[in-house]
Amino acid sequence: MNVLLLGSGGREHALAWKLAQSPSLSSLYAAPGNPGIAEHAECVALEVEDHAAIVRFCRERDIALVVVGPEAPLVAGLADALRQEAIAVFGPSAAAARLEGSKGFTKDLCARAGIPTAGYVRAASLDEARAALARFEPPYVLKADGLAAGKGVVIADDIEAAEIALADMFGGQFGEAGAEVVIEEYMAGEEASFFALADGSFILPFGSAQDHKRVGAGDTGPNTGGMGAYSPAPVLTPELEERVMEEIIRPTVETMAADGHPYTGVLYAGLMLTGAGPKLIEYNCRFGDPECQVLMMRLRGDLAAIMLACARAELAGVRPDFSPDTALTVVMAAKGYPGTPEKGGAIDLGESEADGAKVFHAGTAVKDGALVANGGRVLNVTATAPSVTEAQARAYAAVDRISFPTGFCRRDIGWREVERERRAGE
Ligand code: AMP
Ligand code: GLY
Repeated sequence: MNVLLLGSGGREHALAWKLAQSPSLSSLYAAPGNPGIAEHAECVALEVEDHAAIVRFCRERDIALVVVGPEAPLVAGLADALRQEAIAVFGPSAAAARLEGSKGFTKDLCARAGIPTAGYVRAASLDEARAALARFEPPYVLKADGLAAGKGVVIADDIEAAEIALADMFGGQFGEAGAEVVIEEYMAGEEASFFALADGSFILPFGSAQDHKRVGAGDTGPNTGGMGAYSPAPVLTPELEERVMEEIIRPTVETMAADGHPYTGVLYAGLMLTGAGPKLIEYNCRFGDPECQVLMMRLRGDLAAIMLACARAELAGVRPDFSPDTALTVVMAAKGYPGTPEKGGAIDLGESEADGAKVFHAGTAVKDGALVANGGRVLNVTATAPSVTEAQARAYAAVDRISFPTGFCRRDIGWREVERERRAGE
């Protein structure tokens, strides 16, 4: 089959790399793609907002499956436009993508379905939000309702900071996304990510991961899109995964179906592992970036066939197989990130992919025949091994084979598990 992949980051490079290995794949197209994706796909210039142009392209190239990488086109209804034309698509409808597109929508669904999550209040004005603060204790968790590129969450230590953050949100800091706000109870615990594929009714667990959101060593400093990740997440034991499936994922998929908005695609649950069990922090309606990179390193089998089965509501026959090894990825970012990153810095990948390592392109470009940085997160340097400690060592050995003078990375990705492995070995 011919597949069209939409997106341009490290997540999409990992998907392209895996799709290219699919026995069921004939031709892979990517829009817009990036220099890494171009090694596996023909990159085409399609505007993701132009649904009619994408439909036309699918007809011209006999595309059997469209894979949507990022959330924005899903929230904007691209999957609906494709399904209307009987083109199979991996990704939810706009109505189902509200699980990521509106935090208030998801909280209301959790309340109705009895899904464990933080207590909350929705507020549609600054006055309402300020009044609601009295019902919470510090630290205050404040969230812009809509899509804010991962930046819409503020955790305020005291009431003054909370009021300032709320005024900023309603003042337009996150545009339309902040026209409504969710205030939540603070949950303490360790975070983990859990992935499931859903075809509207059937649900397939699809692996776990942990990422490092803060820019600095020891998980300090400003939030980023993710500075590194590893999969599986051993903190999500088989028993906890079973609870997550039964208490969180299944009631969500069942409620969406009962409401007439069946969820198809990958459902990514951000979880807090609290003393009272796993609780939902948030949903995403697409793979995590860079969590996808580590999942794809472990996945065996035909990704295109799995995704097509998901799009066609035929998941019941699918048995995905993941290597038990750990995959770990280190994000190399351009200096300045998560603020304004330095663009155009030279990159020499050299022999970085020796020893089974894989370098996914997240934000690169080719200029005058040479590879340069072209974004905040630039490279995802990824390795696998039987232990987290060994996977970490291999990933950093690959990082050290790369020349990228205007780049930087954290040196401690995976530290929690490395520490646990060290203690277990004592
Ligand atoms: P989100 O974009 O909803 O994943 O939130 C970003 C980050 O804020 C999460 O990864 C958590 O670290 C933190 N966070 C969000 N909601 C809560 C909460 N209710 N309690 C504690 N931390 C939270
Ligand atoms: N790495 C977090 C995300 O993709 O949302």
